[in-house]
Amino acid sequence: MIKIAPSLLAADILNLARDVKMLEESGAHWLHIDVMDGMFVPNITFGPQYVSALRKITNLVLDVHLMVEKPERYIEDFCKAGADYVTVHCEATPHLDRTLQLIKFHGKKTGVALNPATDVRSIKYVLDKLDMVLLMSVNPGFGGQQFIESTYDKLNELKDLIGERKIEIQVDGGVNDEIGTKLVACGATVLVAGSYILNHTNPKKAIDLLKNISKN
Ligand code: DX5
Ligand code: ZN
Repeated sequence: MIKIAPSLLAADILNLARDVKMLEESGAHWLHIDVMDGMFVPNITFGPQYVSALRKITNLVLDVHLMVEKPERYIEDFCKAGADYVTVHCEATPHLDRTLQLIKFHGKKTGVALNPATDVRSIKYVLDKLDMVLLMSVNPGFGGQQFIESTYDKLNELKDLIGERKIEIQVDGGVNDEIGTKLVACGATVLVAGSYILNHTNPKKAIDLLKNISKN
């Protein structure tokens, strides 16, 4: 089954609890949390306190996407705050293997994110430490950007690299139901969608359309 992970970057920050409840009632599986540090990406968003506040109001899977330089500095904080998945960018640390071990040490699921220009082979030697690979289909930093078409080829390459391993394949950036259909056909198992779901006139309908993709 395809998992749907709405990005809270597109939520109403002053009505966050209301939006989380609405996403729960609309059948979202995970909540995708975009952490930006103003260094790795040009934008600044949330810290561990945001995750612990969310942890108190929802049982949905908290999927934390760290767009942060040297993420190893913050792994413990985000794990203790209640993250379920912690995803770091392979471009953001010279110590990817050590960082993944740290996430595992705290009992959480590991993810590695790849920017659009990063070769999938850069994660070849850490595959056995991964629960998820996140392919960025926009340049990270902002919601509402246009999907980058080369993601489809990259997905096919990633699938070959992963082989029989049980690793989730997440795609993030510019996803809607039409693009999602093609992504799932190429092997995506988790779809992140921010503006498509939260700016939709009927977010439940948007989630349903994404959820139904697997049945097509
Ligand atoms: C971009 C973030 C995405 C973003 C997706 O840096 O990683 O998660 O919120 O937003 P949309 O779906 O609007 O592209
Ligand atoms: Zn993200």
